[in-house]
Amino acid sequence: MGTAHTRQMSTKAANNLAKVTFVLGGPGCGKGTQCQLLVERDQFVHLSAGDLLREEQATDSEDSKLINDHIKEGKIVPVEITCRLLLKAMQKIGMNKRFLIDGFPRNEDNLFGWQKEMEDFANVDQVIFFELSEEDMLKRIMHRAKTSGRADDNVEAAQKRFTTFNTETMKVIDHFDEKNIVHKIDATGDIEEVYTDLKEGLIL
Ligand code: ADP
Ligand code: C5P
Ligand code: MG
Repeated sequence: MGTAHTRQMSTKAANNLAKVTFVLGGPGCGKGTQCQLLVERDQFVHLSAGDLLREEQATDSEDSKLINDHIKEGKIVPVEITCRLLLKAMQKIGMNKRFLIDGFPRNEDNLFGWQKEMEDFANVDQVIFFELSEEDMLKRIMHRAKTSGRADDNVEAAQKRFTTFNTETMKVIDHFDEKNIVHKIDATGDIEEVYTDLKEGLIL
């Protein structure tokens, strides 16, 4: 009886949580591009941790300099800042949505911070992981550099971001892989090809 009651309670609790898909992959692999399509075609809400940090950096807040210094060096901003921005954005939109959280968690600090602060608000049911060679990621970054105005869209910063991805983010992907919730996608094709592969098996 206790078990049924507990199950009922936990189902009710889970129903009240935001539904979250994490979107990971190296810099320039196409995370933002595919998230945009999922918003337009599949009713997801997209939050890019990098975009939120760049917006915060631009407001001249007390964290601006720290964020700027981390982004230029391809380093990961402390999770207290990133989680605060994510939660604020989610609450503003309304928690009863299906969120794509893009570019997060990027290291163990991000992961542990999320587990500590967000597990009462959100349930992560899948992780999308786009795989692409560094050579192709660099090509895409340099293409984006023509219009992005981003301080880190250049060869030197890209190399630092690749190192951070390999040494810090891959551990996080391995963590989710052990839980069997990673949806691995080959990101080499054109935008529509990648989207077609992505949709297959995706929890909507
Ligand atoms: P991320 O968010 O992973 O850093 P973006 O979505 O911003 O990557 O994409 C990086 C650049 O590559 C952009 O200029 C984008 O238009 C381009 N791009 C994205 N997906 C593809 C693709 N499948 N093929 C070729 N170029 C792509
Ligand atoms: O995802 P995006 O390429 O926009 O991220 C740009 C930069 O923002 C990262 O290289 C990193 O410096 C910072 N960032 C971070 N923590 C995150 C996401 C992005 O510090 N979770
Ligand atoms: Mg992006």
